[in-house]
Amino acid sequence: MATLIFRHAAQLIGVAPSFTVIEDGAVVVQDERIRWLGPTADLPSVPPDAEILDVAGKVIVPGLVDSHTHLLFAGARASEFEQRLQGQSYQEIAERGGGINATVQSVRQASKEELKRLARQRLKHLLSFGVTTVEVKSGYGLTLADELKCLEAISELNAEGPLELVPTFLGAHAVPPEYRNDRAGYIRLLIDEMLPEIARCGLAEFCDVFCEKGVFSISESEEILRKAKNLGFRLKLHADELSPLGGAELAGRLGATSADHLLCITDAGMDALARSGTIATLLPGTAFFLGVPYAPARKLIERGVTVALASDCNPGTCPTENLPLVGTMACTQMRMLPSEVIRAMTIHAAAALGRADRLGSLEVGKQADLIVLDVPSYPHLFYHFGVSHVERVIKRGRVVYPA
Ligand code: NIG
Ligand code: FE
Repeated sequence: MATLIFRHAAQLIGVAPSFTVIEDGAVVVQDERIRWLGPTADLPSVPPDAEILDVAGKVIVPGLVDSHTHLLFAGARASEFEQRLQGQSYQEIAERGGGINATVQSVRQASKEELKRLARQRLKHLLSFGVTTVEVKSGYGLTLADELKCLEAISELNAEGPLELVPTFLGAHAVPPEYRNDRAGYIRLLIDEMLPEIARCGLAEFCDVFCEKGVFSISESEEILRKAKNLGFRLKLHADELSPLGGAELAGRLGATSADHLLCITDAGMDALARSGTIATLLPGTAFFLGVPYAPARKLIERGVTVALASDCNPGTCPTENLPLVGTMACTQMRMLPSEVIRAMTIHAAAALGRADRLGSLEVGKQADLIVLDVPSYPHLFYHFGVSHVERVIKRGRVVYPA
């Protein structure tokens, strides 16, 4: 592959080991990797066939990593959006058969090809907002066959590219309707049949559980996650999203890679994450869309917890692919600085996916995933909100956007 050089960037943003801004920056990409970066004035001599792109007045940041999505689904739930605006809560709607189980019904009826077609659209939107790696959860199938259908779809979309997809098994997303009167039976199915079969097929890297009042309790979540850990999965947890159940403490105790949502996390939960090094993945788009208070980002950061930010893209609580807009919410609603938000959506998010050694920063030797933004300085990515500033996306050293 030919050498690709970007030079004269107004700002080149390094996010690891610390946040750095190189003015009039240049980066040399070769064989899918970053070979060199620094001030354009110091650019080493380059091969004659190198492709050189002048990006004066633009900003280069690492490709964004969206480390928590449920973007493989069919159907929409706009009617629930209206019901919530009329005063019903997310939990009330779920209890009446709406919520996650409404999407489960649509996903069970959809073919794998149909699910892929729908997800491809969403991946295209994500790419247009600068996302180059995305975690995708199953969890709207809730039978072995339907969960496998979803995980196969994720695997096939990953193989198609250009986005890199990280698969998570979320069979414990809800108790499906056919087990309404037999929750223990569904948990047995998860532990005795689904987890071993999904481990055998190698179709998921992470296992996640929706630990919530009325969904999976702390002890049920613990039993499922311990089995998953024994089978070799890395762990994530939907923790303390709608009530302070102690999910963060459980995530810490099990050494989970991340604990996600955390709108209702307690001081004890924050201490548990700080002790275990579990990453707090915050999803302000969900608080925004549900109209509930945001997670305590500043307190988490003060206590030394690593904070990642992700979209939570899903049909119920956060139907968006606009990750930079979520970054604006993190700034204005959770008081994170633009520099903290960029790290939370790159290197910290890569760590939440166990890929910080290869992805998430502009450093020599790392995979060349980067985006060119048509903004004069990095805070503009969140300051001028709601539109895409992405001019070009490079994934594995290749320009993949615009196509
Ligand atoms: O992250 N909390 C559980 N899962 C999703 C919601 C999924 C849905 O409502 O379809 C979330 O908020
Ligand atoms: Fe979620």
